[in-house]
Amino acid sequence: MKKIKLVLVIALFISAGGLLIFACSPSKPEPVKTVAIADGDFDPANWGKAYPLEYESWLKTQDPRPSEKSKYKKGYDTDKVIYDKLSEFPYMALLFNGWGFGVEYNEPRGHHYMLIDQLEIDPSRLKAGGACLTCKTPYAPKLQKEMGVDYFKLPYLEVHSKIPQNFQKLGVTCVDCHDNKTLNPKLSRWTLSKALSDIGKDANQLGRQELRSLVCAQCHVTYIVQKDPEMKSKAVFFPWQGSKPGDISVENIIKVIKGDPSHLEWTQAVTGFKVGFIRHPEYEFYSRNSVHWKADVACADSHRNPSMVKRTGCCYSGPYGFADEPGWLRNRGYGQTV
Ligand code: HEC
Ligand code: HEC
Repeated sequence: MKKIKLVLVIALFISAGGLLIFACSPSKPEPVKTVAIADGDFDPANWGKAYPLEYESWLKTQDPRPSEKSKYKKGYDTDKVIYDKLSEFPYMALLFNGWGFGVEYNEPRGHHYMLIDQLEIDPSRLKAGGACLTCKTPYAPKLQKEMGVDYFKLPYLEVHSKIPQNFQKLGVTCVDCHDNKTLNPKLSRWTLSKALSDIGKDANQLGRQELRSLVCAQCHVTYIVQKDPEMKSKAVFFPWQGSKPGDISVENIIKVIKGDPSHLEWTQAVTGFKVGFIRHPEYEFYSRNSVHWKADVACADSHRNPSMVKRTGCCYSGPYGFADEPGWLRNRGYGQTV
């Protein structure tokens, strides 16, 4: 018995010693960062000096991709054809008669093109004014702060000209989604912070996995361009009032749209009706009991760039592709919930 006790004591000493040795060993070498990103630096090339791999993958959003990758998107990258929704669905030209969408309505392209596409599309699509820049330029929060209601109201090109010249074609970039010191994901848009507070969530108290979807929800949501009595834009907001986290329903969005005449954005030419518009409620649908949401999968889990993946050693590829390994999602709980 004594012997056993002694052995136990020795074993304890050994493991304690082991712990000590472990604790004293030098921590894993961290790469030395020689480049700091200054506060308020919008230039992705400067962020790229500190994070060359991510910069490289961000640049890839301008690369052409094969067409027919998705049932919902024909392509327009490699075949150089601009897929026109109005030709594909001719009733849309009639439905949207009286509005820019009835004049020109194309498939989306990679992030690199978001502002460029606005400059190239028929100007009738930009009639709402500076408000249209809210999801297109990293300068939107700054301009909105400086210009107040004029930011929404003044003609698009007038507000656009206030973006520094070098960045007048720059779309979503590092500063839209990241803190410059920690590189943690961070929200930059007043629209989303306000919408979150409307559903009872504090934008400053968000978990990392939540942020990995919410950075996308800054733009991939439906929104209202609120009008003054002269039909000039006076605000952009998300119609989430009365909803709850994980339960932002279309029915409720419609309620908000119909709840105030200033939320009706255009007049349908054939009927003369003033109507609202639901855009692309991606985050709203995704976060409402979807299988992925229930499995705690974030947008960034799948829509990530290969070079970022190299850093974390994870298993999925992009850009904007889906998990390569079929078992990956199942291992996160997908298999158990269905
Ligand atoms: C600042 C606004 C903004 C943010 C933030 C944003 N997007 Fe986008 N996204 C857009 C716009 C605008 C387009 C359409 C661009 C075009 O057609 O010119 C787009 C297009 C896309 C497309 C379609 C691209 C294609 O080639 O068909 C995908 C996929 C996408 N975004 C995913 C994401 C994901 C994932 C996130 C979050 C990590 C995200 N986006 C964050 C504005 C944004
Ligand atoms: C649309 C939003 C968005 C944009 C634009 C964006 N990122 Fe990210 N980035 C993310 C998200 C989300 C993650 C994942 C964060 C996490 O896992 O906590 C990420 C991860 C990272 C990481 C950590 C990589 C890792 O795997 O640990 C770095 C570094 C980074 N991004 C740098 C950049 C740089 C530099 C740019 C600009 C050239 C940029 N990002 C543009 C959303 C974005």
